[in-house]
Order: sequence, then structure tokens, then C-alpha cells
Amino acid sequence: MSEILSHQDSGVLTLTFNRPEKMNALTRSMYSGLANGLNEAAGDFGVRAVIISAEGDHFTAGNDIMDFMNNPPTSDDSEVAQFLASLLNFPKPLLAAVKGNAVGVGTTMLLHCDVVVAGPTAKFSMPFASLGLVPEAGSSYLFPQLVGYQRAARIFMTGESFSSEEAVEMGLVTAIDSDPLAHAMKVAQHIAEQPPQAIINTKALLKARNHDSVAAVMKAEFEIFSMALQSEEAMEAFMKFMSKKGK
Ligand code: COA
Repeated sequence: MSEILSHQDSGVLTLTFNRPEKMNALTRSMYSGLANGLNEAAGDFGVRAVIISAEGDHFTAGNDIMDFMNNPPTSDDSEVAQFLASLLNFPKPLLAAVKGNAVGVGTTMLLHCDVVVAGPTAKFSMPFASLGLVPEAGSSYLFPQLVGYQRAARIFMTGESFSSEEAVEMGLVTAIDSDPLAHAMKVAQHIAEQPPQAIINTKALLKARNHDSVAAVMKAEFEIFSMALQSEEAMEAFMKFMSKKGK
């Protein structure tokens, strides 16, 4: 069974993380599957909107830590870099349905979405610094822009998580619903009924102000992130996680 499921219904494509036994921790092949799904959807006239969703009780525990240790991404060709480029450049409406934990890239990818619906008990966190790493996916630019410098600094520097209510108040989450996927589907179908070129033009205008800055920040983040992945601080944090799990 694929670890990224793909399902299309009336112009709405749903891409679903399907690795619930590992809290949907994202592997290189999952990033590839996501990038391919987004790139194909971008060129498919039949797809009017995409929802990112997850099987199981959690959205995602972020990047797979074993993958970080064994196959650290170092170049623009890496699967994670390809996924982030697809995310940044995706021209159609992108929605997310979040339940449970959204860790690391599970939260930062939401900064690129047009609509995010979360379950009432969803929990968001970006513990990059706690892992010896740095913010990624343009989040060092997009997150302070959204919530203000000091609030962003506190969240990045402490690794503290925040709730759905806080995420709504920040503007990261659009709505809270006990069935976030059904809610996101309703919104996506509503969008899919609109004139498609007008929607694509609207998104391009909404994103235009930030696009080039975010691309530049992503590149800078990626360089520091790749170096940090090889650092002693990161290795120590990864080993601590692995030993906690009795691996
Ligand atoms: N990478 C690899 N495996 C992961 C993972 C990750 N990021 N997150 C969870 N898993 C695995 C666990 O090793 C465990 O596997 P096992 O059953 O073979 O031991 C399984 O998923 C379930 O996770 P577990 O930690 O037992 O669940 P929990 O409910 O106790 O804790 C979290 C949930 C999210 C708090 C915890 O899994 C966690 O901290 N994960 C790491 C998050 C992280 O730091 N991500 C990187 C961000 S850059």
C-alpha cells in the first residue's frame, strides 16, 4: 500500500499521508509522492483544488528521524527540496485537514496552504532548534510575518506547541471542526465550482508579494539546515529520540 494515497472526486484531489503506525513521519519516498502529486495536479485541468490529509490519529510527526540520520538532504535535487519547491509554486488552491500532532514540516507546510481546517485537539509544533536544526519551508520568514517577531521567536526557540484555538487566532488555521477532512472537502468543492482561471489568478496575486522572498529564504534555510543535520547537536537529539523509543 502506498504511503501517499491519492483520490480524486469532482475536481478535488486528496493526497493522504498513509504511514499511521509511525505517526505519518515523512520519508524521502513520501516527499517524492507528494511532489509528484502536486506537480501532476498543477498540470491537470480536471483538478481544481488539492487537500492534504492524513490516515490515523495524527497529521504527521514531521520528517522521519531515521531518514534524517541515514540520508540527510544536501541538494536541491533531494526529495524534500523538490516537495518544498512544489509547495511554494503550486498554482491552485491547496487545503489541509489536520488532526492530532502536526510536528515540524507538518506545521510549516500549512503556512503555504490557502485553507487549513483542524480538529479541536490538533497540536502544532516546530521544534527545530530543540533538535539542533533551524526553521525550514520558508517558515523563518512566513511565521513571524503571520504572528509577529517575538511570538515566532518564542515558539521557534522553546519548541513549545500550540493548540487549534491558538492557531485560529494566529491566522494559521481557518476553522476548527471535529471532522476536518469533511469540512475541508466542502470548502474545496465550493472553490472547485468557481471559474478556474479566476481562482488561479487570484492565488497568484495573493502570493505574488511573498513569492520571491520566500524562495530566497527557503534556499538560505536549506543551506543552514543541511549543515545543522550533520552537527553534533542534531546527532545528540536524534540519538536521544531513538533511544527513548528503544531502537
Ligand atoms: N521519525 C521517525 N519515527 C517516528 C517519528 C519521526 N519523526 N515520530 C514518531 N515516530 C515513530 C516512533 O518511533 C514510534 O515507532 P515505534 O512504534 O516503532 O517505536 C511510532 O512512530 C509512534 O510514535 P511514539 O513516539 O511512540 O508516539 P507518542 O504518541 O508517544 O509521541 C510524538 C508522539 C509526536 C510526541 C513523538 O512521536 C515525537 O516526538 N516524534 C518526533 C517528532 C519530531 O521531532 N519530528 C521531527 C521534526 S523536524
